[in-house]
Amino acid sequence: MKKTLLILSAIICIAACADKPSHETEMNKFVDNLMSQMTLEEKIGQLNLLSMWFDVTGPRMSKDVEQKVKDGLVGGVFNFWTPNAVRKLQDMILTQTRLKIPLLVGYDVIHGHRTIYPIPLGLASTWDTEMIERIASAVADEASADGLHWTFSPMVDLARDPRWGRVSEGAGEDPYLGAEIAKAMVRGYEQGDLSKQNTIMSCVKHFALYGAAEGGRDYNTIDMSRLRMYNEYLPPYEAAVKAGASSVMTSFNEIDGLPATGNQWLLTDLLRRQWGFGGFVVTDWTAIYEMEDHGVGDKAKVTELSINAGVDMDMVSEYMIEELPALVKAGRVKEATVDAACRRILEAKYRLGLFADPYRGISEERAKTQIKSPEKLALSKEAALKSIVLLKNEGQTLPLDASKKIAFIGPLVKNQRTLLGNWAAAGDWKQIMTLWDALENKYAGAKFLYAQGCHLVEDKYIRRMTDQQNGNVIDDRPAQQLIDEAVRTAGQADMVVAVLGEAYDMSGEAASRSNINLLDNQKNLLKALKKTGKPIALVLINGRPLTLQWEHDNIDAILETWLPGMRGGEAIVDILFGDANPSGKITMTFPRNVGQIPIYYNHKSTGRPFSNDSKFTTKYIDMENTPLYPFGYGLSYTQFTYSGVQLSDSTLTANGSITASVTLTNSGNRAGEEIVQLYVRDLVGSITRPVKELKGFQRVELKPGESKQITFAITPELLKFYNSDLQWIAEPGEFLVFVGGDSNTDNKAKFTLR
Ligand code: NOJ
Repeated sequence: MKKTLLILSAIICIAACADKPSHETEMNKFVDNLMSQMTLEEKIGQLNLLSMWFDVTGPRMSKDVEQKVKDGLVGGVFNFWTPNAVRKLQDMILTQTRLKIPLLVGYDVIHGHRTIYPIPLGLASTWDTEMIERIASAVADEASADGLHWTFSPMVDLARDPRWGRVSEGAGEDPYLGAEIAKAMVRGYEQGDLSKQNTIMSCVKHFALYGAAEGGRDYNTIDMSRLRMYNEYLPPYEAAVKAGASSVMTSFNEIDGLPATGNQWLLTDLLRRQWGFGGFVVTDWTAIYEMEDHGVGDKAKVTELSINAGVDMDMVSEYMIEELPALVKAGRVKEATVDAACRRILEAKYRLGLFADPYRGISEERAKTQIKSPEKLALSKEAALKSIVLLKNEGQTLPLDASKKIAFIGPLVKNQRTLLGNWAAAGDWKQIMTLWDALENKYAGAKFLYAQGCHLVEDKYIRRMTDQQNGNVIDDRPAQQLIDEAVRTAGQADMVVAVLGEAYDMSGEAASRSNINLLDNQKNLLKALKKTGKPIALVLINGRPLTLQWEHDNIDAILETWLPGMRGGEAIVDILFGDANPSGKITMTFPRNVGQIPIYYNHKSTGRPFSNDSKFTTKYIDMENTPLYPFGYGLSYTQFTYSGVQLSDSTLTANGSITASVTLTNSGNRAGEEIVQLYVRDLVGSITRPVKELKGFQRVELKPGESKQITFAITPELLKFYNSDLQWIAEPGEFLVFVGGDSNTDNKAKFTLR
């Protein structure tokens, strides 16, 4: 049986190889020929990735990069761009190195390069994968025009702990939505054809499980069962790889006691053998070097572990160039392993067309037309509008009436830098319109009042950890003086809009918080404003779910705008005054307090599901189980009503398909967009199954009074999961299917899978 299978697969392989597009064959010939001329040191040089300019995110820095480039010791650089600078660097390669192998040029283009879009968590809140793909291709167009070949994005780490600062860089807590967004981003960046000069290589990160750091503390340890990995955390990485991502970045954490960067099971067995990944693996910043601190060996040992595990490129450690020659000589690393890694890097360069044109078509002219083009700026605004989530709107506090006297109060009303968000690549915050500028621009002559109200960050500890120069405005007046002034200003107005949140660098890398309340000084301001008795709308500009129980109980309206990017100020104003209707929905659960974390909608039932009737069920004695706002939640200025769920059949067969439909009606008096969500519950399984799992969603636009039938197809494929033997299967039995406006919906029907 085994033999027949082997012969069969050999035949299939021969047929496939004969069919391979000729450029693959050409590439292989080219790389063979080039590698036959390379010394071992030159091959190892290709595995070395150094940081050119600034943006240091770790314990070591790259030095003497230009000299190392000339010496053939560098395969790629990052933190570097502009057509001119990149052209000069490639010229240096062409004129001063023996083999003239162009450099890869990368950068953390996370939510835009120069045109900055909302942070990824904001983009995810749009649930608009078609738009996200458009954004990724616009980003690729702009970044490639600025000399870049490679972005360290998408970050697809599933995250259930809002204390972790990097939740701002990902899509939130759901594997299905995370996978859909991951695919859209890879497709957008690479467009399936890197030879097009307006594409860039994507890099799926951080492989793997980085979002599960214990206590939400960045870089912390992780310990996870295979079942949880396969069913919950791995799907977005796998989806991105299968969508054609050209590179993968290792994560800082350990998996099963071995750092990801030295984990052969992860990088070779799973990634290459099971998923068929054909691109190259790069480490995160100094991740090989950091394996010494993890305690798995000395410099030589950790280098050996990493390359033998499947790492191809060493970001900033420089351990590969320093250690590999001796390791190969000693037989601890096979030369064939170095060859394989080098080949993968050269293949990426070939696919990017760098050997044909080391400049990849860059020119000042192209940069001028592509960078911050009107279309890209418009897309940034579209994304910001769709990402904003209305969390509360009692008594229709919003939208605002511009003829009223409105006081805008808070340190973020006139702050430019925060709007751009963390990891804003080459975005220039000094050029962007604040919320206040946008107000003045739109309502010239209107009499809005303003007071700063408080410092953005007063807490001494946080102030030490954040960047106090870079646009985080400092005003040294005493806190009470600022509050008094704000209260006086509020007293003259009909209503107050308080604009509060986090400084741009209170989320992102190395920005975990143990407490995710609004900062005390901001809360004090809000409490003082509340005492004025004026209606208050709270506009939040921040990078993670916050704990907002007090605000929810005391403030009339709450608008979560995330870190909305360079058109964010204008988008917030359009939403506040009703020129646009909020339509975003949160993709991470908002807890009531930090003690509830981890809290996520797709949890297991337990043997003692929550009940108010008995003490001995799963709960806290001091806090209810429910979140403040569930996954998928978000309001609109209009109302949407759902009919019951109609199934086309109550039985689904192994190869069949049924549909679940609802009639969705806009029962309010404004046009609006609703994100309709499909969830499934597998009632009995060979292993326990989550109480709900997202399996589909649609963004639907409806005019006032309009109804539409919304239909989802349900196939057995949608019901599959990894069982305890890690087989991907759907088990016959009963399922509930839910269709509604958030993960709390109880609008359901039942069917049986035969
Ligand atoms: C460290 C971060 O973890 C990673 O996401 C980033 O791509 C690299 N630094 C490079 O800047």
